Amino acid sequence: MIEPLISPRTKAIIPVHLFGHPVDMDRLTEIARRRNLIVIEDCAESHGATVRGRMTGSFGHAGCFSFYANKVITTGEGGMVVTNDDKLAERLRLLRNLGFTKPRFRHEVAGYNFRMTGYQAAMGLAQLHRIGQIISEKRRMATSYNARLGTLRGLRLPVELEWAKNVYWMYGIEVQRDFGVTRDELAERLASAGIETRTFFCPMNQQPCLREIPGFNATGCPVADRLWETGLYLPSAPTLSDENIQYICSMIAKIGARA
Ligand SMILES: Cc1ncc(COP(=O)(O)O)c(C=O)c1O
Repeated sequence: MIEPLISPRTKAIIPVHLFGHPVDMDRLTEIARRRNLIVIEDCAESHGATVRGRMTGSFGHAGCFSFYANKVITTGEGGMVVTNDDKLAERLRLLRNLGFTKPRFRHEVAGYNFRMTGYQAAMGLAQLHRIGQIISEKRRMATSYNARLGTLRGLRLPVELEWAKNVYWMYGIEVQRDFGVTRDELAERLASAGIETRTFFCPMNQQPCLREIPGFNATGCPVADRLWETGLYLPSAPTLSDENIQYICSMIAKIGARA
C-alpha cells in the first residue's frame, strides 16, 4: 500500500500508530531504507505499544508523543519528540526555546516557545511511574469488552496482531450493516443511556483544509472512508469498572437486538 504512493517528491513517511495498535515498523522501515526516506512516527496514541517487543517511537528518525489530557499518560497539554540523532535533538531543543543561541538573546533561527512548564513535567514524571499500571488497565478494559461484544452480530472489534502489543488507547468498534442500526443511531441511543462515544477520525483525503491546497492528490482511501462512516469508539478510561463495561455492552446488545 505504501510503495505505490511514493513519488520522486516524497521526502518522508509518517506512520500513525492509531488507537494504540502499532504499525508494522519492521516492514515500513525496510521500505523507507530502500527508498531513502525519513520516518517520523506519530506515537500520540501508542505510548508503550510494541512491535515484536520493540517500543513504538524507537524505529523512526524521530517519534512524536502527545501528552494531551485524553492520552495514555498526560501532562494536560504538550508532548515530546524522541530521536537517536544528536544533531536533530540539538535542533529541536533550539526550536523549542525561541531559537536562543549564545550569547543569550541572539536568535540563530526563528524558534518557538514550546517549553514545558515545571508543573507539567512533575505531572508527567508521576504519570510515567504509573504507565505500566495504566496500560494493564487499558488491556483489561479491552479484554472485558471483547468477551462481551464478541458474540454480537454486525460489530467488528479491535485486534491485536500476533507481533504487536496493543495499548488500546481507545476501544474502537466498527458498526457494520448487519448490526441493524447505523453507527450514528447507535451513538445517539447510547448517549440517551448516558454513554458518551466518539466517531473515528475524518480521513485526510476528506479534510477541507487539505483539499484546498494546490496540487492536492485526490487518492481514494476506501478503508479510511468506510471507517469514517462506521467507526465508533467506546468509553475507554483505565478507571472503567467491569460493571461499567457490562452496562455499556448490555445497552449495545439491546439496541442491536431490537433493530
Ligand atoms: C494520532 C494523533 N496525532 C497527533 C495528535 C496531536 O497531538 P497534540 O494534541 O498533543 O498536538 C493526536 C491527538 O490529539 C493524535 O491522536
